[in-house]
Amino acid sequence: MKIEPRTWSLKDGRICCLRSPEPDDAEAMIRHARRVADETEFVSAYRDEINITTEEQAALIEQYTASVYQLCVLAFIDDALAGICLIQGKSGRRKSRHRTDLGISVQKAYWSLGIGRALLSAALEEAGKLEIEQIELAVYEGNERARQLYKDAGFLDVGLLPRAARLADGSYLGEYIMVFNVQRRGG
Ligand SMILES: CC(C)(COP(=O)(O)OP(=O)(O)OC[C@H]1O[C@@H](n2cnc3c(N)ncnc32)[C@H](O)[C@@H]1OP(=O)(O)O)[C@@H](O)C(=O)NCCC(=O)NCCS
Repeated sequence: MKIEPRTWSLKDGRICCLRSPEPDDAEAMIRHARRVADETEFVSAYRDEINITTEEQAALIEQYTASVYQLCVLAFIDDALAGICLIQGKSGRRKSRHRTDLGISVQKAYWSLGIGRALLSAALEEAGKLEIEQIELAVYEGNERARQLYKDAGFLDVGLLPRAARLADGSYLGEYIMVFNVQRRGG
């Protein structure tokens, strides 16, 4: 679904604009995903695994817009894409379609300004207007910045999955599984 566009004041005084993606944002979203994959080990894909085409990404954006189980929020500073938060249904099956996965990423140049918090806050608020009941996520060990963000927002720890990721250097990272129960809001 689409959210009402909104603005958020960042710690350095700049204004962050939050809105849902349009198909024209597809290329910028792919560039963003590749850049973040270069900048941190804390996302699930390496850059060379992000092979989606602009057309495929544009089709996904149309799906986010049409679905009551999916929500995508983009954060812009001065018209440049700085961050993305995506909530996606885990499955279309009736037993599990109340469950969703959340992913969030902010480009390193914009870290610690409050964009992560702004994206998460908007996504959780809007999720309450949709059919999303439970939001689940996985955070790699060592990603204290993300862990703090999620804890502050009300996500609870469920457990630690050992050896969840095998990095290019052969080392392993476990991941914390965290869950958030969405408060229903009219809308
Ligand atoms: C995690 C991420 C989304 C945070 O985005 P951000 O815009 O920097 O987040 P914010 O500025 O809103 O907030 C960061 C919070 O991290 C916390 N934080 C920062 N450094 C920290 C540290 N070393 N230890 C613990 N908490 C820390 C603070 O609580 C801070 O909030 P505050 O300054 O308001 O108290 C961003 O760092 C990112 O995209 N990282 C790479 C991808 C990623 O890890 N995604 C999450 C996968 S689960």
